[in-house]
Amino acid sequence: MSTRYQNFIDGKWVDALGGETFENRNPADWEEVVGVFAKSGKEDVERAVESAREGLEAWKRVPPPIRGNILKKAADLLVERQEAFAEDMTREMGKVIAETSGDIQEAIDTGYYAGGEGRRFFGRTVPSELRNKAAFTIHLPMGVVGVICPWNFPMAIPSWKIFPALLAGNAVVFKPASDVPLSGTNFIKTLVDAGVHPKAINLVHGPGSSVGNAMQENTAVRALSFTGSTEIGKRIARKAADTLQRVSLELGGKNAQIVWEDADLDLALYGVLWGAYGTTGQRCTATSRLIVHEKVFKPFMEMLQQAVEALELGNGLDPKTDVGPLINEAQLRTVAEYVAIGQQEGATLLTGGEPYEEGVCKKGFFYRPTVFTDVTPEMRIAKEEIFGPVLSVLKVRDWKEAVYVHNNTDYGLSSSIYTRDVNLAFHAMEELVAGITYVNAPTIGAECHLPFGGCKETGNGHREGGWSPYEFFTETKTVYVDYSGALQRAQIDTEEA
Ligand code: UN1
Repeated sequence: MSTRYQNFIDGKWVDALGGETFENRNPADWEEVVGVFAKSGKEDVERAVESAREGLEAWKRVPPPIRGNILKKAADLLVERQEAFAEDMTREMGKVIAETSGDIQEAIDTGYYAGGEGRRFFGRTVPSELRNKAAFTIHLPMGVVGVICPWNFPMAIPSWKIFPALLAGNAVVFKPASDVPLSGTNFIKTLVDAGVHPKAINLVHGPGSSVGNAMQENTAVRALSFTGSTEIGKRIARKAADTLQRVSLELGGKNAQIVWEDADLDLALYGVLWGAYGTTGQRCTATSRLIVHEKVFKPFMEMLQQAVEALELGNGLDPKTDVGPLINEAQLRTVAEYVAIGQQEGATLLTGGEPYEEGVCKKGFFYRPTVFTDVTPEMRIAKEEIFGPVLSVLKVRDWKEAVYVHNNTDYGLSSSIYTRDVNLAFHAMEELVAGITYVNAPTIGAECHLPFGGCKETGNGHREGGWSPYEFFTETKTVYVDYSGALQRAQIDTEEA
């Protein structure tokens, strides 16, 4: 019998009101059922929001330094549970164990950052233009906030949103992706064990079409933080226009690594292997384009082909595995469709281009790491997000062309350049349209205490990570205290200089 997992609402573990469930299977071995989870609907979300409204009243009164201490304790517990949670995560979504352990590390680091923020939840004290008058700002919680997360970073991304939301005094309703409900459960259980008010954190499993929609339709949910596809992000933005719900959208990417003629080619090779095939290419920061200077194109392609063909596919729990499976059958189909599109568009398949079903991989959603060359900037495989182990290589002659090719997508999340020329590196920082630029490092590997987010259709301008989400999850209140005992009118009774 598979283990059954429930929602967490009103401080209790409960089934979905409709009694429905769904299965969570291992993408490396579809015969393994990781667990059976509550399949919720609108009524479950309504109960969760009601619970959050009650939790909010208690939680927002806990002084921020104490809220911070509780979140720090959650991070301590994640350290104790890291190994077990990493195994659970690899079983439910496939990425290799070093990466799932890193995913939990990101949650741990974000928890400690939030813990420290409790004693640093500063407003500003500002001089008034009038005598005997004080002016300052304070941050107040938004109230009940919604969090909807993807499956590729099952604990890191929820932690980016939930830790700051809680530190700021909000109550949360959280919907993890249906492919990774176990990691969502592990995270929420840890927060509750650490002492977060049990009604201030509510977990609702189920499909975006019912649970996610209901979170938007409920006007008590004042802010919503979403990471996922650009298509769904736009739908959320359109809906938010009706209620003016505050939304933070972290969406797609089509990130490129530029390899310049003076690059250290070995270093650039390690970079692209990690950037393109880490998490099986299923990152919004994945390197899905490689822009190579024509002078080093031929030797670099030889190095790349050899290294890509040496990558070991397998179950992520096996330490020898370099690349795990794709998340599910639909994603495998999407990747196969894009490979067919690339071939129709006239790109050359350098390596890969087919599912992989050898040995232990026969019962999983594996796809061979793929490289396309002869890609031109207008091809769909050069512009659209694939979210799989597919790299499109474009050859360029000069810097102007490199910048044009780089910026010729609707996205702008992460970017990278390998060069030894410091002047060129600074030009890249300014001219590559993206939220992140790496110099001599791959497009992936953002650190949790710096802003994370992108330009154009990658999002709606918000940043996660570091100090930025604390702004998103609070209302800034401006306070004036006039202790003059008289009516003093700003702009009118102000003294002459
Ligand atoms: C994502 O793919 O949605 O820098 C986020 C990175 C990770 C975050 C990726 N820390 O690639």
